[in-house]
Amino acid sequence: MANILVAGAGKLGLPLARLLVAAGHRVSAIRRSDPPPVAEGIHWYCLDLEEPASLAPLARDYDQAVIILTPASRSPEGYERAYQHAQDNLLAHLDGSRTRPACLFVSATSVYAQDDGGWVDETSPAEPASYNGRSLLAAEHRILEYSPAPLVIRFAGIYGPARRRLLDQLRKPLSIQRSPPLYTNRVHQDDCIAILDFLAARQREGSNRHTIYIGADHCPAPKFEMMTWLAEAAGLAAPTPVDAPDDAPRGKRCSNRRLLDSGYAFRYPGYREGYAGMLNPADGE
Ligand SMILES: NC(=O)c1ccc[n+]([C@@H]2O[C@H](COP(=O)([O-])OP(=O)(O)OC[C@H]3O[C@@H](n4cnc5c(N)ncnc54)[C@H](OP(=O)(O)O)[C@@H]3O)[C@@H](O)[C@H]2O)c1
Repeated sequence: MANILVAGAGKLGLPLARLLVAAGHRVSAIRRSDPPPVAEGIHWYCLDLEEPASLAPLARDYDQAVIILTPASRSPEGYERAYQHAQDNLLAHLDGSRTRPACLFVSATSVYAQDDGGWVDETSPAEPASYNGRSLLAAEHRILEYSPAPLVIRFAGIYGPARRRLLDQLRKPLSIQRSPPLYTNRVHQDDCIAILDFLAARQREGSNRHTIYIGADHCPAPKFEMMTWLAEAAGLAAPTPVDAPDDAPRGKRCSNRRLLDSGYAFRYPGYREGYAGMLNPADGE
């Protein structure tokens, strides 16, 4: 049995904490809002990691810390507050223990700026052009230098029953680049939770061969193709194609080969399988 901290018990962290409790671990979870009505064996800390003083009640003796924070706003300041200040406060607090916990940090494929439609994997240069990618990459580096046996998972765009942004976009007139193809990468929320559970178990066993993994499904796809499929499947209006100049951005294709080679099997190999389970007749209304 391990003593595990889930820092950021939201849409990914709460189900992960439940899985860890079910597997017999001692689990603590942090979020700012009140705990759920039923604690389910999770030890709750409702505190703001941006406020160092609020961390005082938090225990320190964790074997493992899974860090899944989201910025309060999509702005340079919001990212800095979550991925630099809040995370630094947490790591400084945990430094008070005899040994630092093994950290598993949730990052994003936005650390890759590649935009030529080619494949990227964990060995590709991560040289983010955007503030969000730069902030996440800095947080990754902090974890890699802080933690014994660190792990970073870079998720692609997450979708699932609680994240219907792409479907919502289709409810209004929408134009999307058709040519040159603009690639997009997706991963179902249930796979994100299962990947975290899988990698965390391997981190506790010491059996991960790598420190960085990409969490994307098998199916990078041109965005126009994916959204046209989704519109048809949901009974919504198809997007309007836009034919852009040849030098327009083409996105990137994220390889999940390393994760597959490590033994992870996707529940939802592509967006078709993932969205099929989410669509119902009401979606087109
Ligand atoms: N969305 C995407 O497409 C995408 C793509 C790639 C990677 N990611 C990454 O995937 C993760 C998404 O996680 P999620 O879906 O579980 O997000 P979420 O539902 O927003 O949960 C985040 C949790 O972190 C807590 N939190 C944030 N700041 C905090 C602070 N200062 N102090 C204490 N608790 C704090 C929140 O607390 P409250 O509940 O109290 O607010 C919430 O419980 C993020 O790490 C994100 O960077 C997302």
